[in-house]
Amino acid sequence: MTALDFSTTLGNAWFPAPIFTASGCASSGRELAQFFDLNSIGGVVTKSVMSKQRHGRPTPRMAETPSGMLNSIGLQGPGIDAFIAKDIPYLLEQKARIIVSIAGETVEEYATLARKLRGISGISALEVNISCPNVENRGLVFACDPDASRRVIDGVRRTIGGELPIIAKLSPDVTDLVHIARGVVDAGADAVALINTVLGMVINIQTLRPHLGGKTGGLSGPAIRPIAVRAIYQVHAALPKLPILGMGGVACGRDALELIAAGASAVSVGTASFGNPTALPTIQNELMELLIAKGFSSLRDAIGYAHRPEETDDN
Ligand code: SIN
Repeated sequence: MTALDFSTTLGNAWFPAPIFTASGCASSGRELAQFFDLNSIGGVVTKSVMSKQRHGRPTPRMAETPSGMLNSIGLQGPGIDAFIAKDIPYLLEQKARIIVSIAGETVEEYATLARKLRGISGISALEVNISCPNVENRGLVFACDPDASRRVIDGVRRTIGGELPIIAKLSPDVTDLVHIARGVVDAGADAVALINTVLGMVINIQTLRPHLGGKTGGLSGPAIRPIAVRAIYQVHAALPKLPILGMGGVACGRDALELIAAGASAVSVGTASFGNPTALPTIQNELMELLIAKGFSSLRDAIGYAHRPEETDDN
């Protein structure tokens, strides 16, 4: 039995452990459930779902890069009705804590999605993905525009009322991330998810043309971890009470602790689970052992630790 309180919160949602799937990397958890109990991790963040079924971008949709990968999926998914009919019951059966991620092309589409999810019991929180880089044009990346970000979150908040926590998923590809974060909080977000993938590109050296069917893609994996740490640190410094679901290249317990010390209240693991389907429980155990070894009695005490003034030696 451990002396560590490993629980965490995002808004008014409580989780017994801080390691979550990352949206888009585990769909609704069926594949990972062959390897571990979905109830044993903090929560399952589902693939961002849109109002209609969507086939996504042309292939190829993935490219390996040094210490990372690019994806250009383009929000492929079954649409909200099929998701509600099949995926929510499955996750409830697994006793998983569910964070539903939604994505839209308009402010109204986000509100429609929120309306369909409102009142479904067993959902812990809503991740509002306003930062998918794999869209037709940069104008659709709401999170790159403070005004558009606010309008989406405001529409979702008005639709779902005050109960369900909203986690706004933001992009690191902006000049002033803190400004965007403040805007979504003012509009009703209870937490932010940092960071979505970083816009990137690979040229195929045989054809001398873009490798990905969608030309650009989102970079994930260890290559982006320092960007995630910087983003989390900046937002926590400016808004220390705002819970952050951190993500970006976490592959072991030490990486997770880095994000937590920067200011994350919970950590999503995505790319690492493609190479190792048991990465999530392994990282969760490593994190717990590390916290105990460092003398913490609760995860909460480690959140934002990097912001504390250094103790000076008076002798
Ligand atoms: C995608 O489906 O293209 C990825 C989603 C995202 O990065 O938000």
